[in-house]
Amino acid sequence: MTEKEIKISYEEYRCPEEMLPEDRELVCEAMEAMNGAYAPYSRYHVGAAVRMSNGQIVRGANQENAAFPSGLCAERTAMFAASARYPDKEMLSIAIAGGVYGRLGKEPCTPCGACRQVMAQYQAKSGKPMSVIMIGSSRIWKFRCVDDILPLIFDGI
Ligand code: THU
Repeated sequence: MTEKEIKISYEEYRCPEEMLPEDRELVCEAMEAMNGAYAPYSRYHVGAAVRMSNGQIVRGANQENAAFPSGLCAERTAMFAASARYPDKEMLSIAIAGGVYGRLGKEPCTPCGACRQVMAQYQAKSGKPMSVIMIGSSRIWKFRCVDDILPLIFDGI
């Protein structure tokens, strides 16, 4: 038996002003995207913004439904819209913000497993790393690529 280790490094910022201009812009877009949330059940509003290789930014927000599985997270709303709108372009980065009634939480908003899997597939499709930015009011995290938030990704297709 050999014990192995997976090491993940990521960047932490205290505020958007510390970030590169394009990341800062994406952070603002994700925070504004929270206004599009429809979350009458959880009251937790999530916004996501995807930067495409053509410079366009596509936003998404979580949408809930009385038939619970019918709702969708902000990240997938944004990625599916982005892929439908620009099917030939790569998704270079995604930023995520969330909080109760749209009030940004202190800790960064971290994407669910299903959204990570969808990110992984679009990243594999494009062949370019998709960075992931998770936003909180006290700190912001940036991961270089989806592998860093979903180690040992399933890509068996
Ligand atoms: N939600 C997202 O939009 N993204 C995530 O990654 C996790 C959760 C939404 C789903 C639901 O509308 C609300 O947050 C509470 O779970």
